[in-house]
Amino acid sequence: MAIWALSDPHLSLSAPDKGMEVFGPQWKEHMPRIARSWQRVVLGSDIVLMPGDVSWSASLPQAAPDLKWLDSLPGTKVLVQGNHDHWWGPIGKTRAAMPRTIRLIQNDALRLGKFVFFGTRLWDSPDFSTAEAVDWNTPDKRPPEKYALKGPDHPETAARREIWNREMERLKLSIAAIPKEPGLRKIALLHYPPTTCDLRDTDATALLESVEGLTDVVFGHIHSLRRDLPQAFGTREGPHGPVNYRLCSADWLGMAPVRIV
Ligand SMILES: [Fe+2]
Ligand SMILES: [Fe+2]
Repeated sequence: MAIWALSDPHLSLSAPDKGMEVFGPQWKEHMPRIARSWQRVVLGSDIVLMPGDVSWSASLPQAAPDLKWLDSLPGTKVLVQGNHDHWWGPIGKTRAAMPRTIRLIQNDALRLGKFVFFGTRLWDSPDFSTAEAVDWNTPDKRPPEKYALKGPDHPETAARREIWNREMERLKLSIAAIPKEPGLRKIALLHYPPTTCDLRDTDATALLESVEGLTDVVFGHIHSLRRDLPQAFGTREGPHGPVNYRLCSADWLGMAPVRIV
């Protein structure tokens, strides 16, 4: 059994006006390209981690065609919610509407064989930003002002901090739900990156790396990451061993799932 990851497919079968090609040629025909690359490598017994921004849909009925499309691809799909997953409502009702091969994580953990998956959506950190690492395709290549990190006393920083702290509590709930059995390998799914491209220490990396047996953290949310960066995430040495932080946004991966295990 292999474990793969692919985040942020931004499916839009029910929302054709939300086509992704406005974001650049890398998104051209992205759904058939994802399907082709997925079918080439993923087996029915495999697991595919999808940390958010799965569908543009605004409700469960609207998301049904996207979820059916995902269900038709091989493997068990494990999801956390992204900031654009407005179809994801109260967890009981949302879970009940999922096709057979789609599993959701929210304030809990999911054990499949000797693997445990946990995580949360996270948010824009009040302490760091990845905006400078994105190719904004603007004349001066600078991030738009709304994405710039503001000072510690700025109201936007306070607003970020409030949501970030709430998400850290959700991450703690998810960690608390991990079975206490020895020998399990743990993998975290987050929608937002928990650290910078050069792997700075953050409160999120500290919390994640307190989990014994954690080997991988997969996340998305960032699109159009520059290809010329000196570093684009990678491995940090945690107190319990190395942890690999991997950006899995579909455009970064060329619309193909990446193998994690
Ligand atoms: Fe996204
Ligand atoms: Fe996102």
